[in-house]
Amino acid sequence: MQDMERAKKRIEELREQINCHNYRYYVLDSPEISDAEYDELMNELMRLEEEHPELITPESPTQRVGAAPVEAFGVVEHREPLLSLANVFSHDELMAWHRRASNLVPGRAMDFVCELKLDGLAVALTYTDGRLTTGATRGDGYRGEDITQNLKTIKSIPLVVPKDAPSRFEVRGEVYLSKTGFKKLNEERAREGQPLFANPRNAAAGSVRQLDPRITASRPLDIYIYSLGWAEGKVPQTHWETLEYLKSLGFKISPYNEHAASLEEVEGYYQRWLVEREKLGFEADGAVVKVNSFDVQRQLGVVGRDPRWAVAYKFPAVQATTSLLDIGISVGRTGSLNPFAILEPVSVGGVTIKQAALHNEEDIHRKDIRIGDTVIVQRAGEVIPQVVGPVVSKRTGKEKVWHMPTRCPVCGSPAVKPEGEVIARCTNVSCPAQIFELLTHFVSRGAMDIDGIGEKLAAALLKEGLVKNVADLYRLREHEQELIDLERMGEKSAQNVLDAIHRSKDRPLSRVIFALGIRHVGQETAELLASHFGSIDRLAQASPEELLEVLTIGPKIAQSIHAFFRQEANLKLIEKLRRAGVRLEAAVREELPLSGQEFVVTGRLEAFTRSQAEERVKELGGAVGSSVTKKTTFLVVGEDPGSKLDKARALGTGLLGEEEFLAILEQAANK
Ligand code: IVH
Repeated sequence: MQDMERAKKRIEELREQINCHNYRYYVLDSPEISDAEYDELMNELMRLEEEHPELITPESPTQRVGAAPVEAFGVVEHREPLLSLANVFSHDELMAWHRRASNLVPGRAMDFVCELKLDGLAVALTYTDGRLTTGATRGDGYRGEDITQNLKTIKSIPLVVPKDAPSRFEVRGEVYLSKTGFKKLNEERAREGQPLFANPRNAAAGSVRQLDPRITASRPLDIYIYSLGWAEGKVPQTHWETLEYLKSLGFKISPYNEHAASLEEVEGYYQRWLVEREKLGFEADGAVVKVNSFDVQRQLGVVGRDPRWAVAYKFPAVQATTSLLDIGISVGRTGSLNPFAILEPVSVGGVTIKQAALHNEEDIHRKDIRIGDTVIVQRAGEVIPQVVGPVVSKRTGKEKVWHMPTRCPVCGSPAVKPEGEVIARCTNVSCPAQIFELLTHFVSRGAMDIDGIGEKLAAALLKEGLVKNVADLYRLREHEQELIDLERMGEKSAQNVLDAIHRSKDRPLSRVIFALGIRHVGQETAELLASHFGSIDRLAQASPEELLEVLTIGPKIAQSIHAFFRQEANLKLIEKLRRAGVRLEAAVREELPLSGQEFVVTGRLEAFTRSQAEERVKELGGAVGSSVTKKTTFLVVGEDPGSKLDKARALGTGLLGEEEFLAILEQAANK
């Protein structure tokens, strides 16, 4: 016992020290000890917690990483909605915003807080009795996703706050990736043949919405807290003081925030950052101007989802002009023919651009973009630049109007544009370009996560005919020698690839659904489908109406999913995956001691009520049935058992007396 007390005390000391060093390092950016010294403290804490697992608490600094992956995120209802911001793009528009607001609060002087508008994603963090209890995405503003485990991996988010903080409160902020973090992440993805993130915002959003917190932990995410959502207890009455207050509670507050006494000062702030923003370590797409007094904020209120008391004063996108040499076409995973601009190389905001996105034929004609035109290209935080439109005054008369070809540029099959759609598609389901795209999508990290198959190997596998569709991956072992003989392969790499393929058979159902490359079904939708239907077969049989019952699925997605499972080729593919042993059902949530066992209780128990007993079983991962069936593992027999006992005897179900039942619970709890 004494040893236990001593360990407890030391653990508490270590946690406090580590939290303090974390704060200095990640929030203040001014560490006091070396990395090695920090590691030593952390190692000691981990060792002690390993020896005394009963002393581990969720807010221990060791618990930031390591939570088990989930099949889908839970839903969090926001107590107060997370609002968005109206935009202004010029000084005149800013003045108009100010005039409208001033008219609503006559005679009241206004001062402001200026902040940079970070390009990441909004999250809400709830603290209860000093501990971080929930972290959620903004979602639709009213309901977001529970991403607590992922947010805990961000070291600048405190897991505990000082004792004098309100007993319950919520802070809001922007999770973002620094420019260097983003660049490194994309370089790594390029090396692994993973699709690149278009911009730091997408990368941050994608990282935070990972089902496996370990992936989130590996991404260099950071956060700036920009407001107090709500609080139970006494809090300051202006936004500026609130930011100071939140800083004193240990939250990371942007050092670029400034108080502005007048609109002129606001304009000064904007102009300064318009010039200086390139030097920032993160992407900022504007300034956020907020009325300082909460009292005035309340009087101004909200229109729709935008508060009248705040506005985003956006920076203009970075633009340049160059000539459009030609229009190329890439074939997407679903056969879409995607036009892109081939440009005379030009530098836009310090980056040389040779290609840019052109969305579809209609868009090209609407903007009247012609081959040979001088065009304006822009990068607005995005990595993939866009063609804004032609500079018509520079036309010579030699420009050519472009039309979408009627055949797929890769396989030559007819391309069609269905009625009412804007995108033309190659009609050949075995078009090599489509298969290549599907294959690289299938193996990608968010999908089946098959390490070692990048674009080069995917292309080689298709070229050599070792793989004709994604299911063939699972028969690659039969062609081991041919795999080894591929350029730059060799025995070891081949073995690694085969092992990775083998491991992917056990991916969660949501990944498999996502990997199939169904149009409009992204990771998020795939997760919803997996938890709603529980198996590919049930999903495949779902009618459009049943699909519409799934939260956030609209008619377009429902139609696309329904159509996918009506295609013979797709059903055949799924059969092949099934035969290969790919898991097509949702797994039991988590491996708990009683996972997979079903208990049924009959008669009265001494030690607890029926519902308490059921509760205990469920806590330990077991299921509780109301009648004895073939699936029942044990019938727990109390005083005065009913007919369930006869049924259990007839089926040969395991029988447990109350004492044996208690022993099983105790044993399971100790595991
Ligand atoms: S305040 C007034 N402050 O911009 C309520 N938002 O378009 C709006 N954002 O969803 C939030 N930096 O994700 C606020 N300093 C900042 C911000 C900021 C970025 C984002 C935020 C929000 C979106 C609104």
